[in-house]
Amino acid sequence: MNNFLTIADCSPQELQGLLDLALELKQEYKSQGNPPLLKGKALAMVFQKPSLRTRVSFEMAMQHLGGHALYLSPFEIGLGKRESIADVARVLSGYVDVIMARVFEHAHVVELAKWASVPVINGLSDYSHPCQALADALTILEEFGALKGLNITYVGDGNNVAVSLMHIAAKLGANFTIANPAGYDLPEAAVKLGYEFAQASGGSIRLLRDPHEAVREAHVIYTDTWTSMGQEEEAEQRRQVFPPYQVNAQLVAEARPDVIVMHCLPAHRGEEITDEVADGPPSRLFPQAENRLHAQKAILVRLLP
Ligand code: CP
Ligand code: NVA
Repeated sequence: MNNFLTIADCSPQELQGLLDLALELKQEYKSQGNPPLLKGKALAMVFQKPSLRTRVSFEMAMQHLGGHALYLSPFEIGLGKRESIADVARVLSGYVDVIMARVFEHAHVVELAKWASVPVINGLSDYSHPCQALADALTILEEFGALKGLNITYVGDGNNVAVSLMHIAAKLGANFTIANPAGYDLPEAAVKLGYEFAQASGGSIRLLRDPHEAVREAHVIYTDTWTSMGQEEEAEQRRQVFPPYQVNAQLVAEARPDVIVMHCLPAHRGEEITDEVADGPPSRLFPQAENRLHAQKAILVRLLP
């Protein structure tokens, strides 16, 4: 692995390897603490958008592993504005051992990786959120023992989080279903890849409009914000369209009795998810958020020799 830009770039074996390593690092951390595997290593975290989980979990992951993380806010770097992406990539490569970037356009993180001589991690782009998907898969694995054969249903906007979840589900043999309103479909090219991955793994992909049909027999119901960062101007319009896709107690009751509910957070309680569900017995929202730490340790250890 040279970079971690999308789930689509990783083989099922690499993903499984990352998950096994994440589990190992998690158990080790909880029992005696992690050894300083990344002693003397530095991570630059370039943020073009706000963050709680991504920033804090990467920073703590580096600290637990004996390394160091530097936070670079949108005001400092101005990727492609104050300075070209190619120049930022080459300058940072002279100072640090790995770069994590949260960007607007996916092409920007690809461009960073093209010019950097150190590994680049996608900390969320408009197209995908692979670090999130790895933590999601870890959470599902801990709950059900494997992803193969599970029914994973995403309800809501066909966004970056949905793309990465679809791809990791399809790579690992799960049955992925999405229910979303017309006009908010997953990108066509991502779906095409999803079908290819599912065919290779024995999984499946279903694209539906009806959330009720989508959650039937679901082991996992997943949702995310109706308005992603960068789409704020559409928020009002989206609030008109998405209410039938709210994950509430009634919808959850239509799934399997052992269903778990997931959300990458931040949640907009009362919109895509109700308090009752977010704080109820099927919710795995906080273990899922914690797993960002453990999944990212695995990514960092794999990328840094
Ligand atoms: N889920 C997630 O990436 O959260 P942040 O935006 O707070 O990093
Ligand atoms: N889809 C959301 C995820 C936030 C972690 C966004 O891009 O804003």
